[in-house]
Amino acid sequence: MERRCYTAVNKGLKYTILTGLTLAAGFAVAQNKKFRDPRSYPFTESANPGAVVVPQPSTSGFGEHARGSNDPLFVAQELVGRPTDTSVTIDAKAVKALEVYYEYGTRSGAYTGKTTPKVFSPNEPFNVQIDNLKPNTEYFYRMRYRDLDDKTFNTRAEHSFHTARTPGSTFTYVLQFDPHMVEGNNEEAYKLTLKKMLADKPDFMIDLGDNFFVDREKPATEKHVVERVELLRSYYDLINHSVPLFLALGNHEGEWGRNLDGTNQSVAVLDTIARKRYFPNPVPNKFYSGSSKEEAMVGVRQANYAWQWGDALFVVLDPYWNRPVPPEMEGDWFTTLGHEQYEWLRKTLEGSHATYKFIFSHNLIGGLDMKGLMRGGIETVKYLEMGGHNLDGTWGFDKARPGWELPIHQLLVRTNATIYFHGHDHLYAKQDLDGIVYQEGPMPSRVGKTDVSRSAKDYNYTHGTVLGGSGYIRVRVSPADVKVDYVQTYLPREEDATHKDGMIADSYTIKARKFNPAAYE
Ligand SMILES: [Fe+2]
Repeated sequence: MERRCYTAVNKGLKYTILTGLTLAAGFAVAQNKKFRDPRSYPFTESANPGAVVVPQPSTSGFGEHARGSNDPLFVAQELVGRPTDTSVTIDAKAVKALEVYYEYGTRSGAYTGKTTPKVFSPNEPFNVQIDNLKPNTEYFYRMRYRDLDDKTFNTRAEHSFHTARTPGSTFTYVLQFDPHMVEGNNEEAYKLTLKKMLADKPDFMIDLGDNFFVDREKPATEKHVVERVELLRSYYDLINHSVPLFLALGNHEGEWGRNLDGTNQSVAVLDTIARKRYFPNPVPNKFYSGSSKEEAMVGVRQANYAWQWGDALFVVLDPYWNRPVPPEMEGDWFTTLGHEQYEWLRKTLEGSHATYKFIFSHNLIGGLDMKGLMRGGIETVKYLEMGGHNLDGTWGFDKARPGWELPIHQLLVRTNATIYFHGHDHLYAKQDLDGIVYQEGPMPSRVGKTDVSRSAKDYNYTHGTVLGGSGYIRVRVSPADVKVDYVQTYLPREEDATHKDGMIADSYTIKARKFNPAAYE
């Protein structure tokens, strides 16, 4: 194994820079070689979890937060979702009944198409799908609306989006992790982060969860859940009129199968319904795959889905809704994709010849309990559904997940995954394991000089590039390589000679490769 130091630019609040690399050199490995035994992965980076397990009750509350945007008529403004090669869906909500249509075209100010005018009910989010678009094309659009007794339509501001890229394209997407908007989060910092993301002109944004953060009110009420969803929506409104949004679930959205109680008032049901009303996430169709299961009280959940964009496959996972089904084991193994989602993941990865494969889940499928559940990065990949070992280091996958082919990490190695993005731990950590980058992301919504050295220690981040601060991750995908930047946010009062809003605190490039040599013996 090779050990080396990263030379990150603008180090900021660097915690440790030592990294362990297990990426084998050379790519000329015969395709017909047998896949290695999943138990044979050395996981040499794994640390003994027992030393850092400290239970800690949560002490923070919600705090008071102003809305991110304020429009007295449109309390939820234009938000683009479900972009495909030929369509997008735009969601909005007004406080009174309106007749609405969208006009659109490929040149700013020149609209060649329009949707059929429709009447929408007051205080009810409404989706409009724009169809028959050209692939790989930038579009401009604006909303036209009028009161039901008016003769003329009013005009809202022009926005834009891009339909799905074709292979060979270069494009950018952005990621945010754990906006929270609870105690300790800062509205101005969050707005600064969103502003920079919008200025990047990304094709889309993926939010890795812990956004609505509704699970602290016990018992949950519909009023509280909707208030939280609307508060967060007022911040998404600052960017997602022109940047299609994909939402991944966090543990704090409450959409856990174990929270279901048979009524329509559990936090799991309330959040799912509110999320779906305000955010058009993908549903399975010709462009997206995912779960099409009609769940009781909530329908198709739009929580795990995959799509191809340019040369890349994108896969969003949901580790909360499904529970182990006997003889699958619970206990330490309670976090699971569930067999159905796992099989979908396996087939999606195995069936894709995309040059790059990006995986997104709020936390690793397992992780360790270190001052909070499911913590950690590559140091924890060895364990549970992620790597197949029990917490005592013995092999447990065959007993805990009978009939499942491989633990998730080994499946990702075998199918040439590029980066696994995860949040939950509120810091920046770029780590390498068996040719895959595990990338933990920073919060977008706190002051820039936040020090994470304590939480990095508590969550056992002992390898890779670990940085504090606030901001987002920007990914530029091209046929030759993938470039990842950590863009930091600093409030004006925090800026000095070495801390500038928008500075790139870390950056790395991954070259295109045909397959991952670490998948073979
Ligand atoms: Fe979380």
